[in-house]
Formats: sequence, structure tokens, C-alpha cells
Amino acid sequence: MGCDVRLRTALATGLAGAVLAFAPAQGSAQSPADPGEYVFNLAGCVGCHTDKKNNGKRLAGGRAFKTDYGTFFSPNITPDPDTGIGDWSYEDFSKAMREGLSPEGHSYFPAFPYTSYTHITDADLMAMWDYLKVQAPVVQANRDHDLQAPFGWRWLMVFWNMLYFERGPATDWDRGRYVTEALAHCHECHTPRNALGGYDLDKAYAGTKRNPEGITVPNITPDRETGVGKWKTGDFELLFTIGMLPDGDFVGGVMGESVSHSTSKMTPSDRAAMIRYLQSLEPVENDVKTKKTQDSEDNAW
Ligand code: HEC
Ligand code: HEC
Repeated sequence: MGCDVRLRTALATGLAGAVLAFAPAQGSAQSPADPGEYVFNLAGCVGCHTDKKNNGKRLAGGRAFKTDYGTFFSPNITPDPDTGIGDWSYEDFSKAMREGLSPEGHSYFPAFPYTSYTHITDADLMAMWDYLKVQAPVVQANRDHDLQAPFGWRWLMVFWNMLYFERGPATDWDRGRYVTEALAHCHECHTPRNALGGYDLDKAYAGTKRNPEGITVPNITPDRETGVGKWKTGDFELLFTIGMLPDGDFVGGVMGESVSHSTSKMTPSDRAAMIRYLQSLEPVENDVKTKKTQDSEDNAW
């Protein structure tokens, strides 16, 4: 935990410079029609809670996540009172999002990115709840996770949370960091993890050869050789609006989902704030290039 605090402080300090240089984007965002829908989209809830592959109903859960720890299935988060979260209060919702705890007090697994969502502001969380409450209810029972010991023991999460979980809404983050880390949870995939699944913040955003889902995730720090230090602002814009890489190829898979569910739905000013935040990160040398990203570098420069 001490480690997390130290590194987070380091990140925040680095950011102070960026804020001065660019002036915070806060307040300049175009206001989208429904603020609840907007934060809900940026946070990518639909992708994980819809079993699109099997034509599952929107937000009814059942999507499988195969990881090193076993297979998780997302739950039904529609307002159906029996199989969804229709009988939840705002307090239950806030406890899940901020504390990673169910209404009965059991710990969720971090396959649900509450470690990012804990930083969502009260106003955004309430707006999100108002939006979620009025979505179409679907009757669909949750599937039990299929996990290997000891990760099937939810009580172990109590210790995991003590070690790795820093709670609470962001108070002094600039808009770019807030959009990137609290809402779009880019950390979840792009920051490598230690053996127990905690973030290795020394390598924040430096990618990993193998994430818990077995996927290679590229280094997106501004390191010029192993990261995206040679990308121009327009390169980021194209990726985050239409999913195109500098070599003209398109991202697919999980990053494609992040683009279609989240980054493409950002207001231009939020997207710009996120890009500035990424460009302000500490460059970290970590060579994890996938073939695709390797190609893109060869072709583009
Ligand atoms: C990366 C995939 C992923 C994303 C993104 C995600 N969730 Fe989840 N969510 C899960 C999984 C998996 C669980 C089950 C966790 C567990 O059982 O320990 C879960 C659990 C939940 C629960 C607890 C439901 C219950 O019945 O106990 C709620 C509420 C929830 N998510 C809401 C949301 C909202 C709102 C968003 C968007 C802000 C969101 N989730 C985004 C994967 C995701
Ligand atoms: C669910 C996992 C996941 C999430 C969440 C995610 N990414 Fe990615 N990202 C990937 C993977 C995997 C790739 C490689 C895709 C490819 O090459 O086709 C990638 C590629 C990228 C690239 C291109 C890097 C290169 O060298 O080609 C950038 C930039 C990027 N992501 C930024 C982000 C940002 C910003 C966010 C948050 C809005 C984000 N990603 C969220 C998994 C993820």
C-alpha cells in the first residue's frame, strides 16, 4: 500500500506541470444531453455487462472473462428486482462502485474495475445511477464464477483490498486524468500487475506481455522507442475516434471495444484532455510490442 501511495503521489506531481502548461479542460467540455448516460458510456459498462457474443440482452450480464484465476461472468445490472439490481438503493450502488462490496458485504473481484471507479465523483456517480435505474429490466439469473482456489475465496479479497486498493472520489485530478483513470479505466489493461494482480505503478501504462486475460497490451507511455512517444496528437485522435492506428490498421478486440464503447463517445474536449494526460505521463521503457504495433512503427516513421 505504501508503495501505491508513493507512486500515485509521484504521478500527481508530474501532472501538476501538465495542468499549468495546458490549463485544465474542466468546465470546457460540451455538455452532453444526459450526464448519466455520458459517464456510463465513458466507463464502458455496456461492453462488460452484455454478452454480445451470445446475443445476450443489454446489461443483463453473462459475459465470460477467462483469466489466469478462472472464468468470471458479469452479473445482470438491469433494474429487474429479482435477477438484476432493481431492489438496490443508491447506497448499495455506491458501496459496490466505491468499496468493491456487495450489499451483503462480500468483496467483489477486481475483474469489476471498482479500483478505477472508486475515483468517480459523487455527482457523476449519482447521475450514472439515475441513468442505470431507468434502463430496460431483463429477467436473467447470474452465473456463478468458475474460479481456481485460492482465488475462489472471496474473503481473500479483504487482504487484496488492504494491499492494493486506494479508495475514494478524486478531488484534485485534472480532467484528463479523471477521464482516463476514473472513467475509462485505461490502467486496467495498460498497467502491468504483480503476481497477486495489484498494479505495478512503477510501470504505469507501460504495457505487459501477458495480462490476466492472456493478452499482450502495448506500452502507451511517451517512451520514444518502446512506447508511443513518436505519436502526434492527431494519431491519438484517429485511434480514439475511429480506432485507426498510424499505419492505417484498425485496433480490434478489447481495445476496439474501448474505442467503440468509450473513447469515441467522449466530447472533443474530454478526448483532448485525455490525450494531453497520456502525453504528460512519465516515459517508461518496456518493450512489449505486439506484432501489429511493431508494424505500425515500421511503416509510420
Ligand atoms: C471489465 C469488465 C467490467 C466493466 C467495464 C464493468 N463491470 Fe461491472 N462487473 C464486472 C464483473 C466481472 C462483475 C462481477 C464481480 C464479482 O462477482 O466479484 C461486476 C459486478 C458489477 C456490479 C455488482 C452486481 C451484483 O449483482 O452484485 C455492479 C453494480 C456493476 N458491476 C456495475 C457496473 C457499472 C455501473 C459499470 C460501468 C461504470 C461496470 N459495472 C463496468 C465486470 C465489469
Ligand atoms: C480491456 C483492455 C484495454 C483497455 C481497457 C484499454 N486498452 Fe488500449 N489497448 C489494449 C490492447 C490489447 C491494445 C493492442 C491493440 C492492437 O494492437 O490491436 C491496445 C492499444 C492501445 C493503443 C495503441 C498503442 C500502439 O502502440 O499501437 C493506445 C494508444 C491505447 N491502447 C490507449 C488506451 C487508452 C487511452 C485507454 C483508455 C481509454 C485504453 N487504451 C484502454 C487493451 C486495452
